[in-house]
Amino acid sequence: METTIKKALKDSPFSTLGLSESNILLAPLAGVSDHPFRRICSSLGADLTYVEMISATAMIYESRRTFDMLKRHESEAKLGVQITGRSAEEVGQAIAVLDKMPFDTIDINMGCPVSKVVKNGCGSGILRDPERVFKTVKAARDSTDKPLSAKFRLGWDHQSMNWPEVADAIESGGADWMTIHGRFRSDDYGAPVNLEQIAAMKRRIGIPLIGNGNIFSRSDALYMRECTGVDGVMVSRGALGNPWIFRDLASGQTPVTIDEWEDVVLKHLKWQQEEYGNSGSGAVCMRKHLLWYAKGWPGAKKLREEINSVELLSDCENLVVNFAAGCRDSGETLRADVWPKDQDNRFMWDPKFDMDRKLDRGVGDDQMESIL
Ligand SMILES: Cc1cc2nc3c(=O)[nH]c(=O)nc-3n(C[C@H](O)[C@H](O)[C@H](O)COP(=O)(O)O)c2cc1C
Repeated sequence: METTIKKALKDSPFSTLGLSESNILLAPLAGVSDHPFRRICSSLGADLTYVEMISATAMIYESRRTFDMLKRHESEAKLGVQITGRSAEEVGQAIAVLDKMPFDTIDINMGCPVSKVVKNGCGSGILRDPERVFKTVKAARDSTDKPLSAKFRLGWDHQSMNWPEVADAIESGGADWMTIHGRFRSDDYGAPVNLEQIAAMKRRIGIPLIGNGNIFSRSDALYMRECTGVDGVMVSRGALGNPWIFRDLASGQTPVTIDEWEDVVLKHLKWQQEEYGNSGSGAVCMRKHLLWYAKGWPGAKKLREEINSVELLSDCENLVVNFAAGCRDSGETLRADVWPKDQDNRFMWDPKFDMDRKLDRGVGDDQMESIL
């Protein structure tokens, strides 16, 4: 048995990519997973990170904004890219271009719920058509020899659960692994992640499976792995303001000290400034991160108010340094839990930090507006 497991791991696409056996991934996150944030997550233990979802149409029309989003920093050891498209041909064409770019692996998005995306047949818009799923993965496979995967949901809605057909189509189209977000397109984040269906999927398919949904701590990741047998986990909202989750998942090291917090937040600010300059979109994007970083500290409310009124990234530095000094002065040197707990004592997303549906629907909408 042991030999079989070792052999399977050795031959897995993850060992080809040189990942750790834990396979801890940072999800592609629209409006969030740019290279400053990806580098922070990698430095704390993420095995593989992704550029946010890219539109195949935008790639084919050579949208400058899209090519800007595809930037890889020289320090990034492993990087994936994710694409979505209106047709198999379009996805194949875009992947032929991505194949020549410095990405280690390519994912096809079949789960994005954003209305503007779905309306064009992109993201989860493909889920009701397993034949198109097959053709899309096949076209992708014919366009690249790089490790290829697809990320999808259990189905369009609870009445039309068709993941077995979709998973079969992904596998027979030639993907090397798949990632399942264990919810339906019609679900919001309040819906539980269906571990039973993920376990059934793992039993059914012959390629590795990555589990996604509600991973906020090491115990969530272990629980998902134990209940489903997935080959790794992909973290999404759990990394917002808490990139230390990767350290927790990789080595069980918690909690976060004020020195570590200050160090990482200042590093993120610095990298953000280096990439985007001191104001404009870089400052807007960083403000969102800082609001998330403030979680778990006393006095966070005041810090949040201050962050909201800051225009320049350079002004944020002082806020962070002063805030950390204040925490030390008052003896608050260990961060408290950043998430509330549900009735099963599991961490859950705090709707206060929400933007909830806006998080992947709203952020995606803005981004998609200009490219679809
Ligand atoms: C801000 C934000 C942006 C997202 N962008 C993407 C994306 O570009 N591609 C993708 O496959 N999923 C995207 N998602 C969905 C997540 O990857 C993930 O499937 C979902 O949040 C469920 O995981 P969670 O419960 O751990 O957050 C996004 C989610 C959020 C919160």
